[in-house]
Order: sequence, then structure tokens, then C-alpha cells
Amino acid sequence: MLKRITVSAPGKLILFGEHAVVYGKPCIVTSVEQRVQVEASFNGVNELVINAPQMGIRNYVKKLKDLGSQEMPKQVAFIEALVRRFAQKYGLKRGLNITTKADFSHTVGFGSSSAVTIAAAYALKSLYQVKLEDKKMFDLCFQAVLDIQGVGSGFDLAAALWGGTLFYTRGAKVVKSLDISHLPILVGYSGIKADTPTLVRQVAELKYKKPKLVNSVFNKIENIVIKANKALICQDWPEVGKLMQQNQKLLEALGVSTNKLEKLIKASIKAGAYGAKLSGAGGGDCIIALVDENKKQAVKKAINSSGGQVMRVRLNTKGAIC
Ligand code: PMV
Repeated sequence: MLKRITVSAPGKLILFGEHAVVYGKPCIVTSVEQRVQVEASFNGVNELVINAPQMGIRNYVKKLKDLGSQEMPKQVAFIEALVRRFAQKYGLKRGLNITTKADFSHTVGFGSSSAVTIAAAYALKSLYQVKLEDKKMFDLCFQAVLDIQGVGSGFDLAAALWGGTLFYTRGAKVVKSLDISHLPILVGYSGIKADTPTLVRQVAELKYKKPKLVNSVFNKIENIVIKANKALICQDWPEVGKLMQQNQKLLEALGVSTNKLEKLIKASIKAGAYGAKLSGAGGGDCIIALVDENKKQAVKKAINSSGGQVMRVRLNTKGAIC
């Protein structure tokens, strides 16, 4: 019987369609070769023991019967919620140790929570030898994330599980892999950590107050995502860049952009990018800029000298692997 397993899952960046995807519209997400690793093993006691040294967690212990109850530090919440959901569904007869390690800081917005949730689910399924097809595993993880965050579309879980670049709708109702080999995108970190649930709730409030405006923005975003899907497959970079600009304007209309993000976006365009936009909930985290090889150095310089930090990342990478 398998006693120990190590699984890794990639981070993510959303290319098009953020916020609208929470309301059933499609988005396009790509996986990022910045991975989270989960090592899981049986421990012979009826406890879940978590170690996440990079997050300051050492020997966090919870009795299996108490999963999900009492205080849960934020750093272990997603894993504990997942183990609890797994235990409810498949029963856990043996306790386990989970140790996590990440290639990236949780502050950059590459989706460490979704990657750790998927990697942990993959590890549990293998360790307890449960037959769990991908969509069922996704559903379990999505429930766990909603237990903790309350809101979201699950796009980040899809990227962590399946990898590649995906056309995606909420709850993995539609997941189509885009057949692309090349994605000439630069990523610039704004230096500011964004809180996704807060921004999602902010947009929900705006939608409640101004439903016509927000619904019309979401419909326009949907059209952009559909066009971007085609343009990405055809590698029509000028068109993809134009669509990024349009998507950015609509995110500004939703009130989720910031001066800092716009400064980085403008600097990228001025230095020769086809287009640029914020990526994710807004409020901070990263911008993405679509850039030809011959403009790369100039755009990198522009992002860095505008107070951003160019991240060295490979996109469109493999999903969860053990
Ligand atoms: O902030 P991020 O990178 O986790 O992206 C959030 C994207 C939203 O559409 C705003 C939320 C979601 O879960 O889809």
C-alpha cells in the first residue's frame, strides 16, 4: 500500500474575463510554472497534521473528528476544508501528515490556495486509493474553496488541475483546452497584495446598485472572451492585444483597477506591447502585457522603472502531477 505521495500543481493567471466569470460568463485562464508541492503520508494517529513552513505553520494538529470546527488559521484553511469534505464523502480511517512547499509567495496572486487544494485532493485520492475522476475531484475542491472564501468561479482550480490554457465557465461546466504552443506574455507584479473575495463582493454590490450597467459590462466582456479565444488560437497578436485593452477598460468601469496597475499598463503599451491589462480581481497583484520578442527588453524596463516587478514565469504549463 502507498504510504507517502508528493503531488505538485501549477499557479494560474487569468487572461480574459475576470469578474464576469463569477456570473456564468466564460473566461480564459493559463497555468503558470510556479508550483505548489504537497507531500502526504499516513501518521498512525487520528489526526491531520499540517506543516507549511513558508507560511509560518509548524505542526498544526487537528483531530479528524474536529475537522472544520474551532479556529482555523488562514494558512491551513483550504487544506483542512478539503480534508473535511473528502472525509465526509469517502470516510477517513487513518490520520495523515501534509507538508506544503511553494515556488512562489502567496502575495503575488498566482493562486497558491487553489494549487494547494488541488494538489492535496490529488494526494488524498492516491493515498486512500479512491477512484475519483477529474470532474469529481474538481467539485470537491470547489466546495472546499467556497467553504472558506464564500465566492469564486473555480477558474484557478481548473488551471491547477488540468493545466494548459483553458476556456472556462464557472463550476467547470465548460472546460476547453486551447491548442496553443506560444504565449508571448510578460507578467508585472504591482507590489500590492489584492484580496480577491473583497473585490468580488465590491463588484456584487455595484451590480446590486447598477444592474443594467454591470450586466452590459459583463456581456461585453463575454464577447471579448469569445473573440480572444479565436485570436489566441490563430496567434493573431495585434487582435489579442486590442482585446486586452478593451477588457481593461471594462474592468476600469467595474472599479477594480488602480492607479498603480494603470501606470504599469500604460508604460507597457508605450514601450511597444500589443496590449496590457490587469489580471485577476484587480486592486493589486499583477498586470499582463502581450509583447513581441523584439520589444521584450523595452517593456521589461518600462515595467520595472514604473515601480513594477517583472516576474520570470513560464505560462501554459502542465496541470497537477505526482
Ligand atoms: O484575483 P485572482 O487572480 O484570484 O482572480 C480572481 C478572478 C475573479 O473572476 C474576480 C474571481 C473568480 O473566482 O473568478
